[in-house]
Amino acid sequence: MPIREDGTSLAERLIPLVPQALTNAAATFVDSLKISSTSEKVRRGRRVVIKRRHVYSEQLAELANLYFRMSSIPVRFWSKTKDWQRWEVKCFRKLNGDRFRAFNSGAKTVCIDKLPGQRLWDHMNRGTLTRRMLEAAAREYCRAHQLWSDEFAGGWSHGDASMANVMYNEKTGRARLIDFELIHENSLPTKSRQADDLLVFLLDLISVVPTRQWLPFALYFLNAYENAGVIAALENQLALPNGMAWIWWGVRTSFANPARVKRRLAKLRHVIANLAHHRAIAATRARKRRRASITCQEISPGMPSASSRTLAISEIAKAASPGIPRRLPTKR
Ligand SMILES: Nc1ncnc2c1ncn2[C@@H]1O[C@H](COP(=O)(O)OP(=O)(O)OP(=O)(O)O)[C@@H](O)[C@H]1O
Ligand SMILES: [Mg+2]
Repeated sequence: MPIREDGTSLAERLIPLVPQALTNAAATFVDSLKISSTSEKVRRGRRVVIKRRHVYSEQLAELANLYFRMSSIPVRFWSKTKDWQRWEVKCFRKLNGDRFRAFNSGAKTVCIDKLPGQRLWDHMNRGTLTRRMLEAAAREYCRAHQLWSDEFAGGWSHGDASMANVMYNEKTGRARLIDFELIHENSLPTKSRQADDLLVFLLDLISVVPTRQWLPFALYFLNAYENAGVIAALENQLALPNGMAWIWWGVRTSFANPARVKRRLAKLRHVIANLAHHRAIAATRARKRRRASITCQEISPGMPSASSRTLAISEIAKAASPGIPRRLPTKR
């Protein structure tokens, strides 16, 4: 995307100028591109959600994928209905199969147990979003990201991790993920895919939550997501997009003012960098503390372990010279 001398991008200049009617039209257009619809039913006493692909879904999915490819947006729709059914059911079972069911039902339909609770997106828009909910969502993403996926030959990622796809059950305090229609481009490294999930979730917060609350909310989420490597990858993804990707960005940010989104992303980047710095310091301190407390470890008295300080000191003492270790380093 062309950047002006004052550092503003095309999206930043255009979106505030776009009249509300046009923004609404863009939103309606994106909605009309929906390739499936959902309805609720009761089947054999279970409340279920029926998700059905539309007649032209395969063509629409291919068109959308062409746009994603041309704009370097790292997600794809499953264009073949059968592939989508398989993935939607497989992911739902992988994440929610401990209690809930999902299966193919007919040529264009999947049938999924209705999860209890409400979407975080609805809580956010009603102003009832809480720290507990954000922490539950982060824990669920963290758990899901630890699961292996054959399709990626790596850690699993969602691909459409918006707050509309996180259900929260107030009674149990548990968040669960739904909607597996998009998938990340599988050439992307695991950490980048997972960081993209965090970004998509945070973009909802950044675009909708009022000034005083968005940052504490973002931090509740990030602090409860315990994979520091993914958060480090996220730091590099907190920027406005280039080229045609800004249309998708508009969808992701509910067409919020890009200048405001950019300011908030910069703030978040700064906070994450500090967070990483503090974590690194805390980890170094913890390592030092552990070394000093070897006497508390479960070893027999007088028998220093391979990593113990006593042994390390004695090895140094026995070395031919301070620069030459007596033992070669071995892999553990
Ligand atoms: N298993 C489920 N339990 C409860 N509600 C569900 C479930 N699956 C879908 N829904 C509801 O149906 C809506 C649409 O489903 P889903 O997100 O899977 O499809 P979608 O076509 O991607 O829709 P959207 O564009 O709204 O995200 C969800 O936002 C949610 O309100
Ligand atoms: Mg959805």
